[in-house]
Amino acid sequence: MPKCFIDSTPKALPVHTVREDAYGAWLDGQSDGVKAWLASTGFKGKGGQTALLPGDGATGAIGAVYVIGGNDDRGGAWAWASLQTGLPGGEYQIVSELSADDAHDAALGFALASYRYERYQTQTDDGNGPDNGTDNGGANMPVLVWPQGADRDGVRGAYGATKLVRDLINTPASDLGPAELAKAAEELAHASGASFKGVVGVDLIREDFPAVYAVGRGAEDSRAPRLIEFTWGREDAPRVTLVGKGVTFDTGGLDLKPASAMKLMKKDMGGAAHALGLASMVMVAGLDVRLRVIIAAVENSVSGAAMRPQDVIATRKGLSVEIGNTDAEGRVILADALALASEDNPEIIVDFATLTGAARSALGTDLPALFCNDDGWAEAILNAGLKTADPLWRMPLYQPYKKQIKSKIADLRNDTDTPYGGAITAALFLQAFVGKDIAWAHIDLMGWTLAAMAGKPDGGEAMSMRALFAALTDRYAS
Ligand code: BES
Ligand code: MN
Ligand code: ZN
Repeated sequence: MPKCFIDSTPKALPVHTVREDAYGAWLDGQSDGVKAWLASTGFKGKGGQTALLPGDGATGAIGAVYVIGGNDDRGGAWAWASLQTGLPGGEYQIVSELSADDAHDAALGFALASYRYERYQTQTDDGNGPDNGTDNGGANMPVLVWPQGADRDGVRGAYGATKLVRDLINTPASDLGPAELAKAAEELAHASGASFKGVVGVDLIREDFPAVYAVGRGAEDSRAPRLIEFTWGREDAPRVTLVGKGVTFDTGGLDLKPASAMKLMKKDMGGAAHALGLASMVMVAGLDVRLRVIIAAVENSVSGAAMRPQDVIATRKGLSVEIGNTDAEGRVILADALALASEDNPEIIVDFATLTGAARSALGTDLPALFCNDDGWAEAILNAGLKTADPLWRMPLYQPYKKQIKSKIADLRNDTDTPYGGAITAALFLQAFVGKDIAWAHIDLMGWTLAAMAGKPDGGEAMSMRALFAALTDRYAS
């Protein structure tokens, strides 16, 4: 956790939280002094605004009023995040009555807004000094008394998972290659008593992951491709398998990306980060499932050893794939990961991937695309997304487009002749490697915030992870 919460203290300054539509009524109940102060400072009582209130003169201590709702239609925890950004350093306590849901959202929003990524900074703008990897909580940061009624473990679980996702995505490829991604997975696995396995380099051929090897073989030895796997939970509990695209850097391979497109590609392991973050939530909460996590980790690199356009590669499932474009590498490594995931016939497979630019063209940066072969499960995920202010939007596995990924010389190709429907054709490619009777959800996500919002700094971001956790919790709550 960031050092943003304390237990009750007499020093804490009171914060009144008021819904925008109840602000008028709240104001009516205040003293003339408070009314005059808010009027003279021009405070309008709009959603997301915080006003500092004058003290009683004798102590000079201030308080604050935070207005929730209105202008932040992301809702949920995000509607509370600007409370953190609106307060100066000091200790605060929400004195208004909160429902359990609001207390959770207030705490989570406050924590998410306190997140900083300062690993590489020797000096910071906020005057708190760098935290060098641990979360900040310096003298200039506001600190909140744990809101009464907040489910602290739930907040810790969601914050911890989000921090894991953000930190992993924000770490440059120079410090996060396939080996480091494997180490992060192994640490998480061991912390939860899960059994961990990694297959590295040419062993991928021996253990039948030819597609992962083909994509990753162009990278230098210290960045050799890997298949990362761990298993947790009661053996005969319902089986849930999470799969992640872990491309620690995507140059595009020999069909090299232009500079503007390559610039964000340290985030191309965002799917793997999401699989790990969601796994941590499931394990911390102790959901009664047999959880399996499978990550294909590679650097999509340029070298004499790299795969070439028009190469034909083998896959674990036995289907051959013509490489039309080496930049469509994510679906190729996921082919082997999804084939492995299907082998023990789990009840559910969820894969996360920063798979296509086309999904971003369709839905923008903040809204992950959901593809799902099971309408009931899809509905449950979408509803959970609304409930947790972590929305997804469903897109179709439109079967007639399958003809676009037919190859003339192999079973499948990894690109298409036109970019139209690119998120769909990528999803259809993945579907070819998923067992027919398994409820499978594929999430094509950005994993990155381009323009900071309250609670969401620029950079790596978890998108749809809390939604999936809520959906799994609803489904498997014991
Ligand atoms: N990692 C990219 C997709 C991506 C790009 C995600 C930008 C988010 C933002 C992926 O490996 C890729 O390069 N996809 C290509 C596929 C194409 C060559 C068929 C794409 O989307 O352009
Ligand atoms: Mn690519
Ligand atoms: Zn990629």
